[in-house]
Amino acid sequence: MKLLENKTAIVTGAARGIGEGIACKFAEHGANVAFTYISDSSAEKAHALQLKLEAMGVKAKSWQTNAADYAQSESFVNDVVKEFGTVDICVNNAGISKDNLLLRLTPDQWEEVIRVNLNSVYNLTKQVIRPMLKARSGSIVNVSSIIGIKGNAGQASYAASKAGIIGFTKSIAQELGSRSIRCNAIAPGFIETDMTQYLQEGEISKSFLDKIPLGRFGTSEETANAALFLASDMSSYITGQVLSICGGMNT
Ligand code: NAI
Repeated sequence: MKLLENKTAIVTGAARGIGEGIACKFAEHGANVAFTYISDSSAEKAHALQLKLEAMGVKAKSWQTNAADYAQSESFVNDVVKEFGTVDICVNNAGISKDNLLLRLTPDQWEEVIRVNLNSVYNLTKQVIRPMLKARSGSIVNVSSIIGIKGNAGQASYAASKAGIIGFTKSIAQELGSRSIRCNAIAPGFIETDMTQYLQEGEISKSFLDKIPLGRFGTSEETANAALFLASDMSSYITGQVLSICGGMNT
C-alpha cells in the first residue's frame, strides 16, 4: 500500500544521509518530492537523486538553497508551490554539528549551529503553513535528536538547537491543530551517516554500542520509516509528539 500518493513533500538537506533516505522512502510511497541541498559539491548527488526519484514514477526536483536563510527559504517554497501546486508535507532535516566543550565554544560556532539547525525550521515552517492553511491539512516533521532530549557533553549548541526544535514543534502543533495541520518531531539516536562517521570506528564505536540496547547503529531507512509514518495519514491523530528512533537508548 502506498501511503503518500498524490502528496507533495519538501525535504531539506536531502543530497545524502537521512534526508536522502526520507526522499527515497516518500517517493517509493508515491509522493512528489521537492528537495534542497546547499553546497556546490552536492550538485551532482542531488541531480542523481532527482533522476532516481523520477525513475520511481513521481515528480522530483532539487533546489540549491540555504535553509538557514529566510529570504531563500521563502522563494524556495514559492517556487515549489508554483511548480508542484501545493505542499502537503515538510520535513525539516537540514542540520550540522560543530562539537566543542563550552570553554572552547566560540560565539560564531554557537550561532552557526543555532542558525542552521533551529532557524531553518522556523524559516521553512513559516512558509509551508501558507499552502497548508489553504488546504486545511498538512504534516510537518522536524528532525530533532536524542541529544536534544538528553544533552551531551561537548554538544551544548547542537543539544540546544535540537531541544529548541522540540519546543517549536509542540507550539506549532497547538497553534495549527484546529486547521488539521500536524507537527511532530523525530529524535534519531546514532544513525549511520557521514555526520556520525567518526563514531562508527574502533573503540569509540564500541563505547557507543554499549549504550544502545539494540546493540547497533540505526540506518537512514529506519529513520525514514518513522518520518513516513508521521507524514502519512497513518498518524492522523498524532501531533506535538517526539518519536525516538534510537535502538532503545532513550528509555
Ligand atoms: P548529513 O551531514 O549526512 O546530512 C545533513 C544534510 O544537511 C547534508 O546534505 C547537508 O549538506 C545539509 N545541510 C546542512 N546545512 C544546510 C543548510 N543550511 N541548508 C540546506 N541543507 C543543509 O547528516 P545526517 O546524519 O543525514 O543528518 C540529517 C539530520 O538528522 C540532521 O538534522 C541531524 O542533526 C539529524 N540527526 C542525525 C543523527 C545521526 O546519527 N546521523 C542523529 C540525530 C539527528
